[in-house]
Order: sequence, then structure tokens, then C-alpha cells
Amino acid sequence: FPSVRLHLNEARFFARKLKTRRQNSHKGSYGNVAVVGGARGMAGAPILAARSALHAGAGRVFAVFADDAPSYDSGQPELMCRAAAGFDLDSSVLVLGPGLGTAPQSVELLKRAVASASALVADADALNLLAADAALQAAVAQRGAGCIITPHPLEAARLLGCAITAVQADRVAAARTLAARLRATVVLKGSGTVIAAPDGDAVINTTGNPALATAGTGDVLAGLCGSLLAQGWPQWEAALAAVWLHGMAADVLVTDGVGPIGLTAGELVPAIRAAINRLV
Ligand code: APR
Ligand code: MG
Repeated sequence: FPSVRLHLNEARFFARKLKTRRQNSHKGSYGNVAVVGGARGMAGAPILAARSALHAGAGRVFAVFADDAPSYDSGQPELMCRAAAGFDLDSSVLVLGPGLGTAPQSVELLKRAVASASALVADADALNLLAADAALQAAVAQRGAGCIITPHPLEAARLLGCAITAVQADRVAAARTLAARLRATVVLKGSGTVIAAPDGDAVINTTGNPALATAGTGDVLAGLCGSLLAQGWPQWEAALAAVWLHGMAADVLVTDGVGPIGLTAGELVPAIRAAINRLV
């Protein structure tokens, strides 16, 4: 397969998918997202992902915490904060991994999520746990509801069992190998993010810049993927559009002087919303 580059004029492709909201629609029309992560000391990661999912248009967003849940997010009281114990993983699109940690109860959560009927975005520690468990990898490959995984190069290297230099030497091949092995849509992050499908289709994104090289921007991307899935986008288009919009938002912010130095992941969230609304 030749690798294809995703150019700015792809905006028209996404605009067709971003239907304007029907007059008589309601929050149930735009889906539920549950971001599952937030082990003790890492509560910020799922909150960033959840805020991102909300601002990208999901109808209802839960932030679900592996350990104790805060009663609410004072900066975003629209989010519903829950503890993972007893949370129903079957009624939302799941974004699993931001700040999840690698404790035994996080492994159990990952197993529950993979076994659920929900569409799944796996990121960060969900991928680190997956790398260490061949049986779970097989379960991911057999999921009916599919999976988007969003590794950065080190997470991809762990999943492939190779060195990070090998991943970076041929990023398209690494993404395709992972996609085929896990039967998942793979988003291999970093400059020139590669999106790859199990059938070998691969695209290199052209938006984004080093302003994104700051903590939490990956969490924002994972939440955005989940939000588009919850709004009914197919997996492949959701991954493509999320990566493109995330990079485009950063490009616009840099043009406006918010970066490249010192952009924060939280600032990306309203910029993604603006990028989406400019398309519809
Ligand atoms: N050019 C374009 N995009 C970039 C660049 C760059 N130079 N640098 C980073 N990015 C983008 C990546 O493509 C990705 O979308 O920024 C995002 C960074 O995502 P992550 O590497 O996952 O970073 P982060 O959000 O901090 O991860 C949070 O999860 O993966 C773990 O170890 C990680 O604990 C950390 C947590
Ligand atoms: Mg990350």
C-alpha cells in the first residue's frame, strides 16, 4: 500500500460528516462517553479527556476514576464524576487509559472494558497493560465493537515488543503491523501522526506542530476520538477527523500567538470546538 497524506482540503470530507444538529434533537442524540482512568494522583488526565469529549459535542460525559472519584469537576461541573467500581461500562463509548495506572484493579478494569459491548478508545496505561498481556491482546482483536488505539512511539514499541528506534524508523509499517495484529484502528502519535487500519490502509496527518509537545495533549486527543464515536462516526473516520482537528486547533492557536511555546492541553479544548464549528 502506498502511504497517503491527509491534506488540509480533507476539511471538506469532514464537513460532510459533521451534520448540523437537527432542530428536535436532544442530548441522547449525541451519545455518551465514559473516560476511564484517573488512578490516585492522576485525576487530571481523565478530566482533560472528558472535557475534550464534551466540547467536541458528546451528549453526556462521565469521568470515571479507578480509585476515589472527586464529587465533581469544579472547572467543568457538566461532567459526571464516578468511581469505577459498579460503573456500567456497557452504556457509553469508553475512552480507557488516561491516568489509569498499572495497579491490579486497573488490569481488572481493562478486562471489563475489553469484554464490554461498547466502542473503545485505548490510550496510555491501557496500552501499557495490554502490551504485557497476550490474552488481552487476543480479546481486543476479537472485539465485535472494534477499537481505536492511540499509542505514542514508546507505547507502540512496548506493544510491538521492539525498540522505539525501530518504530520511528518506519512509522507507517509499525502502525500497520499493530493494526493488523490487534484488528484495531491505530493512531501512532508524534510529528506526522500515522493512522492505520487492519486492512493496511494508512494515512499520515499533515496538521499539528510542536506546540503539542506538552503534557495532556494525548488525553485531549483520546477524548476527541471517543466523542466522535459517540456521535455515530465510524471508527476509521473518527480517528482521521480527530487527529486532523486536534492538529488544526494547535495550528490556529500558534497563528494567534498561543504557542508554540507554553500552549497547555486545556487550551486546546475550546480551540478544537472552534475548529469543529468552523467546518459545519
Ligand atoms: N508535532 C505534532 N504533534 C505532536 C508533536 C509534534 N512535534 N509532539 C507531540 N504531538 C502530539 C502527538 O501527536 C499527540 O497527539 O501531541 C500528542 C501527545 O500525546 P502523548 O504523547 O500521549 O502525551 P500526553 O498527553 O502527555 O500523555 C499523557 O499518557 O501516554 C502517556 O506517558 C504518557 O503519562 C503520559 C500520559
Ligand atoms: Mg499519552
